[in-house]
Amino acid sequence: MKKVYLETYGCQMNVSDSERVATALGRDGFEITTDAENADVVLINTCSVREKAEQKLYTQVGRIRHADGPKPVVGVLGCVAQLEGETLLNKIPGVDFVVGTRAVGRVSNILGRTIAGEDGIVDLGERDDDYDWTVADTHRHSPYVAFLPIIEGCNKFCTYCIVPFSRGRERSLPADQLIQEVLDLKSRGVKEVHLIGQNVNSYRPETETGLEGFAGKSAFSRLLRAVAATGIERIKFTTSFPRDFHEDIVEAIETHPNLCNWVHLPVQSGSNRILKLMKRGHTIDRYLKQIDRIRSSSRDIAITTDIIVGFPGETEEDFKDTVELVRYCGFDSAYIFKYSPRPGTPAFEMEDTVSFAEKTLRFLELENVQKACQQRRLERYNDKVLEVLAEGTSARTEGGITGHSTCHKVVNFVGDPKQLGSIANVKITQVKANSMFGEVV
Ligand code: SAH
Ligand code: SF4
Ligand code: F3S
Repeated sequence: MKKVYLETYGCQMNVSDSERVATALGRDGFEITTDAENADVVLINTCSVREKAEQKLYTQVGRIRHADGPKPVVGVLGCVAQLEGETLLNKIPGVDFVVGTRAVGRVSNILGRTIAGEDGIVDLGERDDDYDWTVADTHRHSPYVAFLPIIEGCNKFCTYCIVPFSRGRERSLPADQLIQEVLDLKSRGVKEVHLIGQNVNSYRPETETGLEGFAGKSAFSRLLRAVAATGIERIKFTTSFPRDFHEDIVEAIETHPNLCNWVHLPVQSGSNRILKLMKRGHTIDRYLKQIDRIRSSSRDIAITTDIIVGFPGETEEDFKDTVELVRYCGFDSAYIFKYSPRPGTPAFEMEDTVSFAEKTLRFLELENVQKACQQRRLERYNDKVLEVLAEGTSARTEGGITGHSTCHKVVNFVGDPKQLGSIANVKITQVKANSMFGEVV
C-alpha cells in the first residue's frame, strides 16, 4: 500500500478539497500518512494569495529533493497549480504532476497513472459532473466539525486578488444537496458545520429546490434558515462579502439559535479612495451601517475582518482612516496583511508606491491598535458563560480540553476527555489575545 503525505496551505476551501482528496485516495487503496519523511507520495495543495504563501511550495519541494533516501512522487495541487500549470514541471525539478483547483476529483486516477509510469500529467480541467463532494468521517479535520462548501470560485475581481483566476467563476451547490449533506453529517455525530465559500453570501443556486418556504431576501439567508431547520447543533459561515451583506442575514441569526453569533466581514481598508482602487464595491459608510446593525442585534455577534495595508497609492491619510475604522469597529479579531503584488492581477500593473519598510510600519501600528481594541472588546466575555464545543485535549495542561465558542473563540478549560464532542457551559475567567480560559459551570 503506497503511503501518501498530503500537505495543505491556504484557506478552508483548500482544507476541504484536501479532505475530499484524502477520502478518494483512501477509497482507492492508498494510505494517508502524517509521516512526511517515509511517504511514497507527497501531495502539496498550494495557495497563491500572497507571495509568502506561494513560496511555501518551493521550500517544501526543495526540502524533499535534498532529503536522503528514495525520492517520493510529488504532485502539486491547488491554486498555484491552477495558475502555473505545465510551467511548474520545468520550473521546479522533482514535480511529477500538476492538478488544478477544479480537477482535484481526478487526483487518485492521475496518481495511479503516474505510479504506472506516465510522466508529467497536467490537469487543469473542470469538475466532473458526478464529482463527489462528501468527505469520509476519518478524513475530516475534526470528528465534530465539518466544512461544507456552498459556493466555489469568485466573480468579484478585487484588483489585488488572485482568487478569481485560481478558482474560476462562482458556482453555487444545489440547496437540496447541501441540506441532505447536513442531515447526514448530523446523523453521523457532527455538531458543527461551517458553510464555506470565497463569498458565502453571494450564494445563488440555479433552482429554488430545498429553499421553498424559507423567508429572507437573499438565497443565502434562506439557505441559512433551511440549514438551521435541520436541527444540527451549530452552524457557522465564512466569508461574507460586504457588498452582498444584507440585514436578512442578521435577522436569520436572531431567529435561529443554532446559527452562531459570528460574522467574518473583511473590510480591507478604511479609505473610500482605496476601496475604489481595490474595486471592492462597498463604501465605508455602508460598511459601518452593517457593523452598527450587527452590533445592535439582540445576539452578541462577534465581528472579525481582514485588512490589507500598503495597497498601491495608500497615503498616510488613507492609512489613518483605516486606523480610525479599526478603532470604531472594535473587531473581535482582524487578520492584517501587507499588500503583496500578484502577477496577473490589475493591481500588479499599478505602481507599488508603499515601500516594504513603510508597509511593515503600518502593519505594526495597525496591529497594536487592533490588539488594544481587541483586548478591551474581549473583556466583555469575562464572567460570561459561553457554550463551548469540546473538540480536543490540550497537551499543555493536565486534563485540558480545548474547543470553540459559538462566537468562534478558542476556549480552554479543565474537563474530562469524555466530554469531547459535546457542548460545555464554560464561565470565562481569563481573556488572552488569541484564546480564553474558563471553568465548567
Ligand atoms: N473572499 C474573501 C477573501 C479571500 S482571500 C473576501 O473577499 O473577503 C483572504 C484575504 O487575503 C483577503 O480578505 C485579503 O485581505 C487578503 N489578500 C488577498 N489578496 C491579497 C494580496 N494580494 N496581498 C495581501 N493580502 C491579500
Ligand atoms: Fe478575492 Fe475579492 Fe474575491 Fe475575496 S471577493 S476572493 S478578495 S476577488
Ligand atoms: Fe489561497 Fe487559493 Fe484559498 S489562493 S486563500 S488557497 S482560494
